[in-house]
Amino acid sequence: MLSLAVLRERRIVLGVSGSIAAYKSVDLASKLTQMGALVDTIMTDAAQQFVTPLAFQSVTGRPVYTNMWRAESSGGLPTHIAHVGLGESADALVIAPATANTIAKLAVGLADDLLSVTALASRAPLLIAPAMDGGMYMHDAVQTNLRVLTERGVWIVEPETGRFASGLVGKGRLPETPALIGHIRRLLGRAGPLAGRKVVVTAGGTREPIDPVRYVSNRSSGKQGYALAQAALDAGADVTLISTADLPVPSGAALVAVSTAQQMLDAVLEHAPATDVLVMAAAVADYRPRIVQAEKIKKPGGTSGLTLDMEQTQDILMEIRRLREVRHTPKVVIGFAAESQDLIANARSKLARKGLDLIVANDITAGDAGFAVDTNRVTLLSADGDIHPLALMSKSEVADEIIAWAAHRLSTAD
Ligand code: CTP
Repeated sequence: MLSLAVLRERRIVLGVSGSIAAYKSVDLASKLTQMGALVDTIMTDAAQQFVTPLAFQSVTGRPVYTNMWRAESSGGLPTHIAHVGLGESADALVIAPATANTIAKLAVGLADDLLSVTALASRAPLLIAPAMDGGMYMHDAVQTNLRVLTERGVWIVEPETGRFASGLVGKGRLPETPALIGHIRRLLGRAGPLAGRKVVVTAGGTREPIDPVRYVSNRSSGKQGYALAQAALDAGADVTLISTADLPVPSGAALVAVSTAQQMLDAVLEHAPATDVLVMAAAVADYRPRIVQAEKIKKPGGTSGLTLDMEQTQDILMEIRRLREVRHTPKVVIGFAAESQDLIANARSKLARKGLDLIVANDITAGDAGFAVDTNRVTLLSADGDIHPLALMSKSEVADEIIAWAAHRLSTAD
């Protein structure tokens, strides 16, 4: 579920210093490139002991910079200006892995190789991902240097706890690529159109218990909701994801894990008063068993069936409509309409009934749209009567369109 927009055509200078984790940076460079970023790599001498420049050049398709003094290693730029040119044109300088040595140089402003000189010359935002043995990471010297960098506004990705190449266990492992990319996206998006705004997204199908073993649910995977949370993060928002799904949480989103429609309602109502944009992408059960059996229901024997007595759940969006009449928050409310017939007519009536600003209508009978697949084909219907059909696209692209609409709506609502 890669959204391309926030990384497309963005220039990232990737600094690689000498740790065994340098091999992971090849994957990072590769994924960033696949997502449309232009990645220029700078390697320290120590980094080249672990990985070759050719590995980075192969996955980025761009020159790799290794030396301040030798013309042939300065890639596209003349050597004497490489350190300035690279930093100047960058949208972000990312140092991953950042060793104790590189961190110390950054903290005191030492400039004795192309990476440290570039870091000093650059005015691009700096993100570093420390990676080293756990004892080294916890050392006062390293922690003091990291504090200095934090105070200077450097974005520091906390290392993970785990097993090191030495066999020891501790904190100091470089996070995996998706987590690193999540941080880079947040860094690039932080001045986006939703900066300073709070967005709440609900995702997944609710589960209504029958007994301790069984529940009633639906086929929603949560993918569209998670893509919306990522798109809102990319736009700079502060994001809360209220979800029933078990998917990787986009880096930076606050997860509120829920299961039933009632729990989702409670969580939405708790967050709604301070929310700018609410996107109800969850498939909330309309009915739940009236009584939840305390013990597992047993077969009585014979062939008799089972009748479940169901009652209606509360409609979360109708509750939000009532809240908005009193408090005027959330400022923008977006709902979904998953329909198997009369798509536009049904969506339009839900838009009006639930007092929404936008409804995202999708035809769940189409094989390439709706539940579980990575693509979606939706039509956006707004309260002012606009009908905007979108082509078949990835759920991430659909999410970008919806979030862009919300950002525009908010900017005109203020
Ligand atoms: N929704 C909600 N609370 C519910 C049921 C649905 O807030 N108890 C929200 C969904 O998250 C979605 C929108 O309402 O954004 C439309 O959901 P949908 O199931 O299509 O509509 P219903 O009102 O349940 O209508 P119906 O099932 O009759 O089509």
